[in-house]
Amino acid sequence: MAARKLLLLPGDGIGPETMAEVGKVLAVLGRAGSPFETETALVGGAAYDAHGQSISDGDMALAMAADAVLFGAVGGPKWDGVPYEVRPEAGLLRLRKDMALFANLRPAICYPALADASSLKRELVDGLDILIVRELTGGVYFGEPKEIVDLGQGQKRGVDTQVYETYEIERIARVAFELARTRHGKVTSMEKRNVMKTGVLWNEVVSRVGRDEYRDVRLEHMLADAGGMQLVRNPKQFDVIVTDNLFGDMLSDIAAMLTGSLGMLPSASLGAPDSSTGRRRALYEPVHGSAPDIAGTGVANPIAMIASLAMMLRYSFEMTREAEALERAIAAVLEEGTRTADIMAPGCRQVGTAEMGDAVAARFERLLNA
Ligand code: IPM
Ligand code: MG
Repeated sequence: MAARKLLLLPGDGIGPETMAEVGKVLAVLGRAGSPFETETALVGGAAYDAHGQSISDGDMALAMAADAVLFGAVGGPKWDGVPYEVRPEAGLLRLRKDMALFANLRPAICYPALADASSLKRELVDGLDILIVRELTGGVYFGEPKEIVDLGQGQKRGVDTQVYETYEIERIARVAFELARTRHGKVTSMEKRNVMKTGVLWNEVVSRVGRDEYRDVRLEHMLADAGGMQLVRNPKQFDVIVTDNLFGDMLSDIAAMLTGSLGMLPSASLGAPDSSTGRRRALYEPVHGSAPDIAGTGVANPIAMIASLAMMLRYSFEMTREAEALERAIAAVLEEGTRTADIMAPGCRQVGTAEMGDAVAARFERLLNA
């Protein structure tokens, strides 16, 4: 079997140290007969320091050619003063846009072992399993005009533009409905149709796609603010949530925290399948950021990064058995009380980034060979 080609973009902050743990899992897969070839490139502040851009054209080309991209994190106070166009986050946004990764899947799963780490009561979050499907290449993130205009006399006008076209809503809705079919058969669509024209269109298009193509899936609409409230009031009512780029950014941070730690959650950003090869461009990244306050100290939780690799096995390579084994390995390591600082609890054993990576990789290897 030809090796699958991965591009690793560790980025900034805790990105490099959590990405290092991915190597251990890939080594296990290699020994089990599934080789991966990796190449590493720069993104974010690290890329800016090296060549004044948040990702170079050369590295963009590598990302376009790879079978999948694994992304760590970008940003940090060191780059607070760099020009807006080349700020670290611009590298991530360019990857999403140029690779046309319109569908962002953010699962929020509460491992039973961690239910007490949530800010909500155990009974509200224990067993929580929701999937946020966030539109990722449109909306106010990319709409034009996007500018600050000088009006004179000390006045300026800042403008961002929220814009969605029918096809963008249709394709993200289909992703959500398809995924709901593989889960609990329910989609909740969130927008602000009471205030925004894009919300009116969003609601109309999602409703039509549901009615015409997915009668078997239960569709419910919620205003995005009410959705945020319901997420902390009764999160287990949700199965798949589909929403736009900006609401998805906010709601997925809320959902992430329900699970106890931002350090646990992976994400997948997918493009459309190529019409001839069926292959889709994809980027996998933890939901947490670069955590500059703990970067380089060896305490970061590598689980979100490793769980992102599990999503890659599932969505890019159809290696379901391996993906499940890796997810079970993570759950088992947590169950036996191995914890990084962010999820430490009384009576558990606190470990650093590398030890957590070792523990998950070792358990994964045992499960694969069982
Ligand atoms: C995320 C992040 C990014 C976003 C930033 C880093 C640009 O918050 O992936 O949720 O806003 O999309
Ligand atoms: Mg965010």
